[in-house]
Amino acid sequence: MPVHPQPIRPTPASSDGSAQVSATTVSLRDRFILENRTAPTEDDASAAGQDVIEGLTQTPKTLPPKYFYDARGSELFEQITELPEYYLTRTERQILETFAGAIADEVGTCDLIELGSGSASKTRLIFSAYQQRRLPLRFVPVDVSDTILEASAHDLLEDYDNLTIHGLVATYEQALQDLPPTDLPRRLIAFIGSTLGNLFPEPEQRFLQAVSQALASGDYFLLGVDLHKDTATLEAAYNDAQGVSAAFNLNMLQHLNWRFGGNFDLTQFRHVAFYNDHDHQIEAYIESLTDQTVALQALDLTVSFTQGERLFSEISRKFDTAVLTAELSEFDLEVSDIFTDEQRQFALLLCQKQS
Ligand code: AVJ
Repeated sequence: MPVHPQPIRPTPASSDGSAQVSATTVSLRDRFILENRTAPTEDDASAAGQDVIEGLTQTPKTLPPKYFYDARGSELFEQITELPEYYLTRTERQILETFAGAIADEVGTCDLIELGSGSASKTRLIFSAYQQRRLPLRFVPVDVSDTILEASAHDLLEDYDNLTIHGLVATYEQALQDLPPTDLPRRLIAFIGSTLGNLFPEPEQRFLQAVSQALASGDYFLLGVDLHKDTATLEAAYNDAQGVSAAFNLNMLQHLNWRFGGNFDLTQFRHVAFYNDHDHQIEAYIESLTDQTVALQALDLTVSFTQGERLFSEISRKFDTAVLTAELSEFDLEVSDIFTDEQRQFALLLCQKQS
């Protein structure tokens, strides 16, 4: 794949044709490039919905998690992070508020590569710690959405003058295979928000292998994970009283409706989420309330559901820091610090790559 770093924000020209930009615009532009690593053909493949056909013709039925995140789904997820029952986001933010300084002190000047950066609102706490210490930092946010990368980069550069940004429009795999070259002394890969919990054990291992391979000896990995806890607390977080979690889950069907000309009737399905305490994971499903057949016109697909049938939509695994520490060391990632909250609900593990 050829790589095309492209500066964004074209220089506005004044009426006499000369460039006329404010000082801020110039410096923002100089401090930001956006590189697109996505192959055009991949978009076509997912537009063709082969992954949806595969998922819905399997037993049990399933859908790829990316169908959560259309515009409405992203908005609903934002709402989830503010729910009283959903302790994850706010707890991870508290941990960073307390320990971002310790992370900056240990890691020092670096290339901070964040996988799945989104709006990077929690990462700001790390930027602030670097700014207070006058340590330069290059931020390499990785996200499949170029719109999100551009919007968040713009705000970040205005707020942090020690920051330059090299955005990567890419999947995690694409980014890890070939990180942008850096002049800084080391790299820090950040994967926070307990997104690791969405991966089954096998893809999780492949992911950790890719992280490990992307790092040189002495580089760092910062991993944010949700921890084992009582079932009631966990189940409330994924079945909130206001029904936002339910709306988020069912929105997948709405997404398929507009994207593939489907006729899912959302009133004929319900959200189910429970904690499987043997496997330490929340499992979320979309359950059919009746015997019904749904058509997805654009995919030439009809799918039948029986009453009570469950389409598997998501796992959210919960971790034990000792088990995870042992697992990370199998990938030459040595845990140097475990940062956690007083109630030990959530943890950030700072690891260093061994030779
Ligand atoms: C974004 C993967 C961390 O697993 O808690 C929230 C997604 N799903 N509520 C999680 C989610 C339902 C969330 N992660």
